[in-house]
Amino acid sequence: MTATVLVAGGNGYIGSHVVVELAAAGFYPVVIDNLANSNPEATRRVTGIAGRDVPLLVGDVRDGAFLDEVFRAYPIDVVIHLAGLKAVGESVAKPLLYYDVNVGGAVGLFQAMDRHGAKRMVFSSSATVYGDPVTVPITEDFATGATNPYGRTKLMIEEVLSDLVASDPAWQAISLRYFNPVGAHDSALIGEDPNDIPNNLFPFIAQVAVGRREKLSVFGNDYATPDGTGVRDYIHVVDLARAHVRATQALLQGTIAGGAHMPINLGTGNGVSVLEAVHAWRRATNRPIPYEVVARRPGDVAACYANSELAEKLLDWRADFDLDAMCRDHWRWQSRNPQGYGEPG
Ligand code: WQD
Repeated sequence: MTATVLVAGGNGYIGSHVVVELAAAGFYPVVIDNLANSNPEATRRVTGIAGRDVPLLVGDVRDGAFLDEVFRAYPIDVVIHLAGLKAVGESVAKPLLYYDVNVGGAVGLFQAMDRHGAKRMVFSSSATVYGDPVTVPITEDFATGATNPYGRTKLMIEEVLSDLVASDPAWQAISLRYFNPVGAHDSALIGEDPNDIPNNLFPFIAQVAVGRREKLSVFGNDYATPDGTGVRDYIHVVDLARAHVRATQALLQGTIAGGAHMPINLGTGNGVSVLEAVHAWRRATNRPIPYEVVARRPGDVAACYANSELAEKLLDWRADFDLDAMCRDHWRWQSRNPQGYGEPG
């Protein structure tokens, strides 16, 4: 019997890649999304990649009546929750919006799941919950301590899930702590499409490479890292998406038992500096990628990368794509879609 997976936020960058991999693995994905941060063209293209219709139901996870309609219309076996706001800087300026959308939205979704007896959750969490780690690589038993409202919403939702599974052992939950998702599906039909000036490194470099931005500002080169620039764990979005499929399977197969909530890191275990990323982008695009070193960005940490052994052990998952593949696939998407979904290239 084909399991039905509800993907909240499934029209977004990560979500659309998750839906493609779910369909490829034989699941029946259903997408709900309020389109606040994504273009419905994404799911139209996902339908083309998947070779089958993927329902996109437009609505908000804070709308209980909308969710009841969805759960009445589809026999949901697992829910993957990616619907939320994710800009660190914006969360500092608009904390109430982030607590309403991210925490309020998650609680509303979990309440609907409870009402309809759908008690398997894969939650999109973030390495931001670790704050500034005392050392690297990071394992899941590290102290958590978010340093911004966005990270605190992710941590609060994880705690809600822990309390929920403790209150009702019929619940099973996995929180996937993403490190730095980058890249795109090799069809170049779907990819990251930031609304305005990209906050994150890869989409910004991609826009420099395609000529939309003049140069990259490197936020500081005086960190205690090999070349002085920030070190992160970039992970290909398709590797990340496939981990969601493995997590879904783990819940259905009972690898993650009832009454359990497992936080699991999703990273490659490799730390890459900003300058190493720039050099990899130059190799992938054969473009100069000009940059200027400027002051540090407030809130940035020197180094953050994962120990990914728990994902290998519990999900039988490991990252396949290397840094050059991440740059190559991200570039193919950007160069064929210079304006993202707004105007096809
Ligand atoms: C990476 C490195 C910057 C832009 C953030 C969120 C995190 C997650 C991933 C949601 C750092 C440097 C960046 C630029 C630069 N999002 N940089 N110039 O900050 O590690 O994580 O995105 O879950 O929650 O915090 O990613 O891509 O912004 O920065 O030098 O124009 O690139 O200083 O060292 P980050 P990032």
